[in-house]
Amino acid sequence: EELAGNPSIQSVDLLSRFLSSGHPDENFVIDIIISFIVAGRDTISAAFVWFFWLLSKNPAIETEIVNEIKEKSDSPIYDEVKDMVYIHASLCESMRLYPPVPVNARMANADDVLPDGTVVKKGVMVSYHPYAMGRVEKVWGKYWSEFRPERWLEKDEKSEKLRFTARDPYTYPVFHAGPMVCLGKEMAILQMKRVVAGVLQRCIVVPVAKDGGEPVYVAALTSKRLVPGED
Ligand code: HEM
Repeated sequence: EELAGNPSIQSVDLLSRFLSSGHPDENFVIDIIISFIVAGRDTISAAFVWFFWLLSKNPAIETEIVNEIKEKSDSPIYDEVKDMVYIHASLCESMRLYPPVPVNARMANADDVLPDGTVVKKGVMVSYHPYAMGRVEKVWGKYWSEFRPERWLEKDEKSEKLRFTARDPYTYPVFHAGPMVCLGKEMAILQMKRVVAGVLQRCIVVPVAKDGGEPVYVAALTSKRLVPGED
């Protein structure tokens, strides 16, 4: 309504941008925004818990990040974080050890055979485990248990600068992989880089609790009455 009344509103929020780009179905756009909020809120906050916890245990890495912020924070805000490869590497490394979605599953909608010959019958659930996959020695090497952002960085031979090197999503399925891959991946990384740069520019990270930092998996049951069509 606000936009209809004043089409020149230069709003910066996502919902207004979708609406002012001329999408005809308002409810559809609202659904997109709600799914973005649901998909992006707990995932990013879970990622931050472990990221800052790991930093508090690895002061040398925190110093490295602070140096990168000091070195690269003169340019405009987007370019500034775009070039912060060490923060990018640290975030990916932290989510390797503590993926916000630690286990995920699919149900076969037809009989199938996996590449290794495993038969999967229609209706069977198949799960995969990003938490375990991030801790496989054969993939991540002897020092898989260590928080080492450097494993995501390579030196560019010409410029001598560090370059971020991504892993293929089937090796690192933190954002899932294939056609149903996370739609907000780039936005999530950008947002997280901006928050990390903003926080570490001003603060030193200190954990609130001395003990109890080990992960706990929280699953929940809900009432049938809360599921649409079940009441
Ligand atoms: C660290 C942050 C995030 C992680 C680890 C993450 C991870 C994932 C994973 C694993 C899936 C696949 C779920 C499935 O199909 O079983 C997914 C889907 C999705 N994510 Fe994210 N996500 C993150 C942030 C975000 C953000 C910020 C947004 C939106 C701005 C977002 C939007 C979506 C959407 C829309 C889907 C559904 C894609 C589809 O079904 O086609 N995610 N995400």
